Amino acid sequence: MAFTTEERYRAYADWSPEYIEKIKKNTESSPWRTNFHIETPHGLLNDPNGFSYFNGKWTLFYQYFPFGAAHGLKSWVHTESTDLVHFEETGTVLYPDTPLDSHGAYSGSAMEFGDKLFLFYTGNVRDENWVRHPYQIGALMDKDGKIEKIDKILIDQPEDTTDHFRDPQIFNYKGQYYAIVGGQNLDKKGIVKLYKAENNDYLNWTLIGDLDFANDMTAYMMECPNIAFVGDQPILLYCPQGLDKEVLDYGNIYPNMYKIGQSFDPENATIVEPGELINLDYGFECYATQAFNAPDGRTLSVSWLALPDVEYPTDAFDYQGCLSLVKELTIKDGKLYQYPVEAITSLRTEAQPFSNQETTNNVYELDLTIPANSKTELVLFANKENKGLTLTLDTENGIITVDRKDCGQAFALDFGTSRSCSIDKAETSASIFIDKSVFEIFINKGEKVFSGRVFPDADQTGIAITAGNPTGTYYHLDYGRKTN
Ligand code: FRU
Repeated sequence: MAFTTEERYRAYADWSPEYIEKIKKNTESSPWRTNFHIETPHGLLNDPNGFSYFNGKWTLFYQYFPFGAAHGLKSWVHTESTDLVHFEETGTVLYPDTPLDSHGAYSGSAMEFGDKLFLFYTGNVRDENWVRHPYQIGALMDKDGKIEKIDKILIDQPEDTTDHFRDPQIFNYKGQYYAIVGGQNLDKKGIVKLYKAENNDYLNWTLIGDLDFANDMTAYMMECPNIAFVGDQPILLYCPQGLDKEVLDYGNIYPNMYKIGQSFDPENATIVEPGELINLDYGFECYATQAFNAPDGRTLSVSWLALPDVEYPTDAFDYQGCLSLVKELTIKDGKLYQYPVEAITSLRTEAQPFSNQETTNNVYELDLTIPANSKTELVLFANKENKGLTLTLDTENGIITVDRKDCGQAFALDFGTSRSCSIDKAETSASIFIDKSVFEIFINKGEKVFSGRVFPDADQTGIAITAGNPTGTYYHLDYGRKTN
């Protein structure tokens, strides 16, 4: 169903319980519901929000429009976890219900202060002329999930940005709280603003300046900027919408990129000696990644596995979007690695040597070794004719390609059906997580990542080795949840 503006911004209370029941049933009937990835009971999920540790648990919210597969009046849904693998939705939400967030509780971050979780987010407000006013605002969540909003604008729209100014991330650097906010300057170029919490008071922010990270100034908007540290090195992750492909080529409608700096100089709003711009994920779906420094010392991230302005086959079932697995970020030899947290191995049940397999339930993990100087081709979600998601691992020429053109329902065709990246010409490992309609492929334990969605036909449940001689292990995974 195509949503009108009136429907997208209709008050939550004005949707009938019968309507919600109807779309919920439709969503439940989808053949593509994930087993171990977070998705919604109905409606649209987008960015991960407020990824944090609070009250002895991992806390993760997501952006939500409950009434169908559309971007409309957004709220936050709360989930929590004790292992970063099993997440439970509590239903607690941050609603768009005040004059400071009347048209959406947009993306943001969270940080524990005392016995409360501070939520720092964008209140999206439209006035009677539909002019947008972005307010960076806050709320406090207590241990019972009760939310109390802070009735004050914490950061107002600066004079040198347009109304595209959003997605505040609070972070701690050497005991001082800072925040970055994504924006668009008056020349319509994407920038990131850096703020400091005066006396470490999260209600009192002052501008330090535009973050200097050798911004190429070709994007028109930076969505969802995040800074996380590995040791002393800052990683800036961000979504530069409209980034010039001559600066760095990418296949998706909007990219999610990163740079690693040598150090962070907050007084001068500078990422010192930023490295080259690199694509965070070479697959088809990965956006709005949030990263944070966990109290246990790990640097963790989670991504939205869908993209803005793309239609998905699940739209017909009144839902869209899922979150990635939680990944740990490390730096080795100056390179970023992203790999699912160790606890993901707790999903493994039976292990078998890897081989052709006619039927799987499309819920499994593969841990493969691809010999040097070889060309391996695998088809996942394969039917009897070996049509499915094709993965070519060419260690002779140093290139990996993922092609989804023969995998069930086609979508996002304007952006092509295959993605590639280069690798070293050497023995290569591939760790592959398959979940009904999601794939996450980690090359060399996370040196390169391909994430994406596919919507296979009912008979696409096999694995075929169509070239080469990969070796390794197939693991059944069991999350403890039944899926269609
Ligand atoms: C990114 C984004 C954010 C915004 C949110 C609204 O996908 O556009 O910039 O805060 O989604 O849902």
